[in-house]
Amino acid sequence: LGNQGLKDFYSNYFPVGVAVGLRNLRGDESVLIKKQFNSLTAENAMKMAPLQPKEGEFYWKAADSIVNFAIKNGIKIRGHNLCWHQQTPDWMFKDGDKQVSKETLLKRLKTHINTVVGRYKGIFYAWDVVNEAIDDNPANSLRNSKWFEICGEDFITKAFEYAHEADPGAKLYYNDYNSELPEKRERIYKLLKSLKDKGVPIDGVGLQAHWSLKSPTEADLRTAIERYSALGLKIQFTELDISIYPWEKDRRAKRPGESDQFTADLEARQAAKYAMVFNVFRAYKDVITNVTFWNVSDRHSWLDEYPVMGRKNYPLLFDANLQPKKAYWEVINFK
Ligand code: XIL
Repeated sequence: LGNQGLKDFYSNYFPVGVAVGLRNLRGDESVLIKKQFNSLTAENAMKMAPLQPKEGEFYWKAADSIVNFAIKNGIKIRGHNLCWHQQTPDWMFKDGDKQVSKETLLKRLKTHINTVVGRYKGIFYAWDVVNEAIDDNPANSLRNSKWFEICGEDFITKAFEYAHEADPGAKLYYNDYNSELPEKRERIYKLLKSLKDKGVPIDGVGLQAHWSLKSPTEADLRTAIERYSALGLKIQFTELDISIYPWEKDRRAKRPGESDQFTADLEARQAAKYAMVFNVFRAYKDVITNVTFWNVSDRHSWLDEYPVMGRKNYPLLFDANLQPKKAYWEVINFK
């Protein structure tokens, strides 16, 4: 094995990325990142609230540090994200003590996107332009966010247009979770198809891939890839991790005395799941343009705090000592 990492094993397939914060870019984790990955996403630093906490006052320090680390080490960068219902500053939707008008909100969106995408023009190869706009309730299409409440569907179209104007060379993605589950998949498909039909500059769909030992099935994963790519869209798996807990249903906090150990049985099942999904990824390498893990190792994952606090999770390929887990060997072991 020696000096080879995921990026080398997958050099004929797709870039393999990782989401990071500043704390990951020091010490042993930075060494691991350089060896294993050839794409970076900022886990938080490039979202709207961290970048523009007050109107017109941009904070670039964290974002720029990630960009500089990537450039210095020859790593590609995908931007995350330009428009979302979370991590958006409160001022965005206000005008004094009133709600902002549609016209002003779209102007603010344009300014944000122009400034951020423009700053990194020619450097980022992809952007998540709109994140999680589809509702979880099957009865609805779009999520009832402030964006939707104030702008209707137009915020989506406009966000893509502004991003394209600001960097015509960057590939533009719509990003969402549970996007391989048949019911939500069809509602996402409908949105993407309508964007394509209207000539909106969209290049692909990001499937977040916050998965569990149960979900998705191989059949659902394959169907999702085929269905989205039939629209002429590229596919990226943008936030991959495989929780050891039943994902959607089990939102309980750990109860006293309950184990949150990573048992040999869980490790084997997780390795099998990773083997399955990478086998599928390789089969669709012509349409898959990136696979990104949501942080580096089990030392820390957002799943340690979400959906409940205080329950340790073990969702990634490296353990807390940065040693490869069984899942890692499954992912690189193919012909
Ligand atoms: C998460 C980060 O991992 C956390 O650190 C933060 O507290 C909340 O956001 N979908 C997304 C990501 O698109 O931006 C989210 O990231 C995880 C779910």
